[in-house]
Amino acid sequence: VMEVTGARNIILEGFMGSGKTTVSEILADKLDLELLDTDAAIVEAEGRSISDIFETDGEESFRDMETALLETASSEHFREMVISLGGGLVLRKENRELLQELGKVVYLRTKPETVYERVRYDDSRPLLKTADPLSTIRKMQSDRGSIYELAADFIIDTDDLTPSEIADRIIEEL
Ligand code: S3P
Repeated sequence: VMEVTGARNIILEGFMGSGKTTVSEILADKLDLELLDTDAAIVEAEGRSISDIFETDGEESFRDMETALLETASSEHFREMVISLGGGLVLRKENRELLQELGKVVYLRTKPETVYERVRYDDSRPLLKTADPLSTIRKMQSDRGSIYELAADFIIDTDDLTPSEIADRIIEEL
């Protein structure tokens, strides 16, 4: 019998529209693992949308909810799950440290133009509701790029891959 010693969760990080949610669903399915999507878990716990939370309580409160959720995940000893992270969760150093203990972090790296094509008709992302979303995406990505890299155990460039191909790539790398 193999003993599970370390944390073995598969954690997906990356910018909004990088495909984390879709890829995590495929991965969980292929590997027969449970799935934790931090955005979905917060929406469910709060009973309101992310846009509502940002509007009413502000971004910092949402970030606190993300940290609280990660702390619960750590304390409950999740061992083999697929965890899909909200795009800004890794911005906090505290969160990046918690993630290291939780498992392997995969960065789905995606070009701004690809992100823009994926999110342009989707109004669920308050941070991209600006007059010029493509410029916002470019600016936010250049601000955050090195943080995603810092938090990653490995990186996959997703622009030319289907979600299923990305999932297969992750399984090969594990
Ligand atoms: C955010 C990303 C969103 C969501 C919130 C903030 C961000 O998640 O958590 O709107 O700061 O990048 P997705 O990456 O799943 O869109």
